[in-house]
Amino acid sequence: MRRKLVVANWKMHGNLVLNEQLFAAYIQKLSLLSHVDIAVCVPYPYLAQAQALLKNTNIAWGAQNLSKDAIGAFTGEVSAMMLKDFGASYVIIGHSERATAYCESDENIAVKFKQAKSYGLTPILCVGETLIEREAGVMQMVVGKQLDAVINAYGASIFADAVVSYEPIWAIGTGLAASGEQAQTMHEFIRSRIAALDKSAAASLKILYGGSVNPQNAVQLFAMQDIDGGLIGKCSLNAQEFEKICRAVA
Ligand code: PGA
Repeated sequence: MRRKLVVANWKMHGNLVLNEQLFAAYIQKLSLLSHVDIAVCVPYPYLAQAQALLKNTNIAWGAQNLSKDAIGAFTGEVSAMMLKDFGASYVIIGHSERATAYCESDENIAVKFKQAKSYGLTPILCVGETLIEREAGVMQMVVGKQLDAVINAYGASIFADAVVSYEPIWAIGTGLAASGEQAQTMHEFIRSRIAALDKSAAASLKILYGGSVNPQNAVQLFAMQDIDGGLIGKCSLNAQEFEKICRAVA
């Protein structure tokens, strides 16, 4: 049985003072929730703060990106080893806000996935289609290609104990979440694509849904068989809403 996972993606929000308040509110509201794994992915400069304030709590922390290289002359990059240095457990990879704004290719994203795994971080690989692609009915082809970039480079077994987050681009930050059925159909597709090559990796893979999750729609989404939790943007900046979403996990 896969444990459910809810991950906060703070994106580029916060500062030392606000974070301290939000971490405190998280700890107060979430410390008794033992039925779900919880993590928060913060901007790089706040990893030390997350480590200091979340140590010995039930809330894990991580980053929102990492370098595809291990070490060297790569100005401005942050390596997997550096994330481990600050106690990070998770790292978001290939979020569409990065993939589009910083032109990340599927191949680069695959290398980052491997890099995270090599250093004992749990990668959260974001996949998803645009509205135009959904309307054209090619969403499974698009997501399949994103998965194949990792599978073709490293084999399906690399997905063992990893996390994939299905994030339809049209649902991110728009207030328009996918329905439970739309998400379930895609989650089932993702799991079966991995299962066709490696059954046990597919069984251990957590598939989150991300895109306008709120306390109201979380219940329906999290009830779906192949939805193992969520990646939460906007609502994670409000501890009360984030708590309700974590509680929506049955
Ligand atoms: P949202 O963001 O919850 O604000 O839509 C989700 C995400 O980008 O991970």
